Amino acid sequence: MAEVVIVESAAAAGALVADEIARLIAGRPDAVLGLATGSTPLPVYEALRPRLSDVDTSRVRAFALDEYVGIDPAHPESYRSVITREVVEPLGFTPEQVHVPNGSTDGIEHAGDDYEAAITAAGGVDLQILGIGTDGHIGFNEPGSSFASRTRVKTLTQRTRHDNARFFSSIDEVPMHCITQGLGTILAARHLVLLAFGEGKARAVAAALEGPISALVPASAVQLHEHVTVVLDEAAASQLKLADYYRHAFDNKPAWQGL
Ligand code: PGA
Repeated sequence: MAEVVIVESAAAAGALVADEIARLIAGRPDAVLGLATGSTPLPVYEALRPRLSDVDTSRVRAFALDEYVGIDPAHPESYRSVITREVVEPLGFTPEQVHVPNGSTDGIEHAGDDYEAAITAAGGVDLQILGIGTDGHIGFNEPGSSFASRTRVKTLTQRTRHDNARFFSSIDEVPMHCITQGLGTILAARHLVLLAFGEGKARAVAAALEGPISALVPASAVQLHEHVTVVLDEAAASQLKLADYYRHAFDNKPAWQGL
């Protein structure tokens, strides 16, 4: 089962996950990171900055989960721009090290296969950071997504467009389509690290971790993976039935085990 770690704040979660990423890169200088966008991973990227300042990261590669389709890559809310602003520039990567699916409508029919091929050529993702949508999506795999799916174009739910409207001037500006790694792509990463903060995520988190494995809750796919770490604040953990057990297990974790 997933290891669930309940921490006091998003900053504490960021520090915990950043420590693990720094440890990974120290042991494997050509590590392949899986990046997420949205608000959730920002504390991780912030905490990584001091941890990587003296580390040679020139061989690290990274792959983002998803991108909007048809958005100008230069738009400040394209995931290419977000990744450049939040990861590439502050962490001192080159743009070539960090891949984002190509959301241009020109050639979109093979963009998914190209992205899969690039991940495979890099040797697969070592550690995949994940947020979770209020509708239970991971990446942009909306409810109903196949657990075997690979990178492809999806139609965003109105709920996701509504959730993401805060980044745009209105919901009408939020693209209708996206290109996202599939659940099968995500499950192929060697370590999944899912983070969630706030009351608004509590229901989706409980459904994903303790509910049935179901296409209705794409994040429930993590129950099928052998190495999953879920890092939550108290509010996001508030609907978990086994929260006390997760705390007990983490408090008594042998020191030699990493995340
Ligand atoms: P958020 O989005 O981190 O902005 O809440 C998470 C997601 O939609 O996957």
